[in-house]
Amino acid sequence: MVPKKDLDWGSLGFGYLKTDKRFISNYKNGAWDEGVLSDDANVVINECAGVLQYSQSCFEGLKAYTTEDGKIVCFRPDMNAERMKNSCERLEMPVFPVDRWVQAVVDTVRADEAWVPPYGSGATLYIRPYMFGSNPVIGVKPADEYQFRILTTPVGPYFKGGAKPIVIRISDFDRAAPRGTGHVKAGLNYAMSLHAIMDAHRNGFNENLYLDPATRTKIEETGGANVIFVTPDNTLVVPKSPSILPSITRRSIVYIAKEILGMKVDEREVYFDEVKKGEFAECGLCGTAAVISPVGKIYDHGTEYDIPSGMEKMGPTLQKLYDTLTGIQMGRLEAPKGWICVIDE
Ligand code: PLP
Ligand code: COI
Repeated sequence: MVPKKDLDWGSLGFGYLKTDKRFISNYKNGAWDEGVLSDDANVVINECAGVLQYSQSCFEGLKAYTTEDGKIVCFRPDMNAERMKNSCERLEMPVFPVDRWVQAVVDTVRADEAWVPPYGSGATLYIRPYMFGSNPVIGVKPADEYQFRILTTPVGPYFKGGAKPIVIRISDFDRAAPRGTGHVKAGLNYAMSLHAIMDAHRNGFNENLYLDPATRTKIEETGGANVIFVTPDNTLVVPKSPSILPSITRRSIVYIAKEILGMKVDEREVYFDEVKKGEFAECGLCGTAAVISPVGKIYDHGTEYDIPSGMEKMGPTLQKLYDTLTGIQMGRLEAPKGWICVIDE
């Protein structure tokens, strides 16, 4: 095993730290080149590049882990590759082939293996594949040339305080339009959310809970994670909507709940009124960065709705889901077939 960098892994937040290598491939004349692993963290593009003028970009997020027995693995990279394919198709960008995509993730993590945080440190290596239009465009149209890159950075918990329950508020802003790009991982969705997140932080909230943009009655997701609920009779309730990002973590949790924990799972439209009526015992945010982060309160224009699991710790069912998910990711529990991609034995 490659010796680890000398870092205080346990005190890492969710930030960027330059690592040694990144993958770079360019698309020109209708084809992707071979790609290289580079030391250069800077991107040099023309002032009129499609990404700079019309935000033609999309990205992914996944993590690499050091397992209990010292392997380096990542979690379901094929799912991220497929989702990026969908993002590219929606944004008129060329697809980086799924098998090459997964191989490029493996190669990049191998090259940055010394940056994969040790088992038990509470940190992981965040992997950020991204693509953008790189040649000049001035009329509104897709670029002809693109760059696909994969950077890595070691990270700690997304929300300060780790597993402590957070407070989220109903947002007056929307993150997606009814027939827009909410279901793909377009950079523009996140640009849309920046004012809302800063406003939430300035007012003391950890995140925004977005309602459906058409009727503002149904729960969608937060700026960077899907939402899940548990009812008092232990059913996992998962909001369904065409404008939320299909979280790989959420789809994995649904599988774990049904197939491993034998729970009932209800994937359906969820009305905010159900929260107001106190119909849920637990609530959490789920995603690569968020893992499962418990929600203790939801604030809506002057009224606080307390989630019965409280502000001290994660509720018992989310804790079971968290333990199973992270147990699989860290190699403590057997993984469903195809979930773990071994990068180094
Ligand atoms: N929803 C949004 C808006 C996100 O940015 C993310 C992060 O990727 C997620 C949900 C969670 O998706 P995943 O579990 O695939 O990381
Ligand atoms: C992820 O969880 O990978 C994301 O992309 C969310 C982002 C807000 C950090």
